[in-house]
Amino acid sequence: MSKNAPHSDVFEGHKRLEKNVTLLAAATLLVVAIGGIVEIAPLFWIDNTIEKVEGMRPYTPLEQAGRDIYVREGCYTCHSQMIRPFRDEVERYGHYSLAAESMYDHPFQWGSKRTGPDLARVGGKYSDDWHVQHLKAPRSVVPESIMPNYSFLAEAELHVADPAANLTALRRVGVPYSDTDIAQASTDLMAQADPDADAGDLATRYPKAQVRDFDGDPKRVTEMDALVAYLQMLGTLVDVNSAAAQEVLTKSSQGGEQGQ
Ligand code: HEC
Repeated sequence: MSKNAPHSDVFEGHKRLEKNVTLLAAATLLVVAIGGIVEIAPLFWIDNTIEKVEGMRPYTPLEQAGRDIYVREGCYTCHSQMIRPFRDEVERYGHYSLAAESMYDHPFQWGSKRTGPDLARVGGKYSDDWHVQHLKAPRSVVPESIMPNYSFLAEAELHVADPAANLTALRRVGVPYSDTDIAQASTDLMAQADPDADAGDLATRYPKAQVRDFDGDPKRVTEMDALVAYLQMLGTLVDVNSAAAQEVLTKSSQGGEQGQ
């Protein structure tokens, strides 16, 4: 605005704006939109708003199938998957969750309800047998439990309509599955839970993938296999105490821009 503009003109203009509701609404919208764009737009150009942490990888088709069962059964209505950086939580559940640990989650399972404990680091805490028994009949292992029985999972043959299509859909929203991962999806899905199958290079493409029979019935691949494979993987991919993870943590806590 020119310094020479008579003040009265500006004043008149503003008076008109204040008296015309439609004009005022339009101008307000414009100003708010500019504010919004300034905040949101840069996020589209920053390659990584979440720092990648060593060890984090996309889920195997079997883990992903287990995750879908987890969502289908509404386990998130009682369980969270996010350890907050508070002393009581860290002492009970382990290192607080890093943003990168849920970077491939679609949808994420942070949750807001803890009728049961947080599951972000439950992988490796119990044996497969324990999980199977606990899912079939929670009160047989934890007498005071109020968790529902999910025994039908052990009876239900694992059926994923099109594993390759699932991975393709996830790739479209940013999960870096390779062409081989997608081509092999159906084979990988079954091989991870079948000790007799040839798992090929599954463990190379998905480091730390646990390949075994999970549900105690090696003859069949059931929904129980998928769910237990998923639970046993939770929190095991990133070695949060490793130097690499620590470096990212220090950088993000000092950096400021990355902190959210
Ligand atoms: C109605 C609430 C409820 C639902 C739904 C529920 N749980 Fe639980 N869950 C609990 C409670 C309460 C506990 C603690 C007592 C126990 O161990 O059974 C628990 C414990 C667990 C544990 C042991 C955690 C630990 O660290 O000891 C696992 C694993 C688990 N649930 C998995 C699941 C899965 C998988 C599903 C979905 C198929 C599910 N839960 C659904 C309430 C629920």
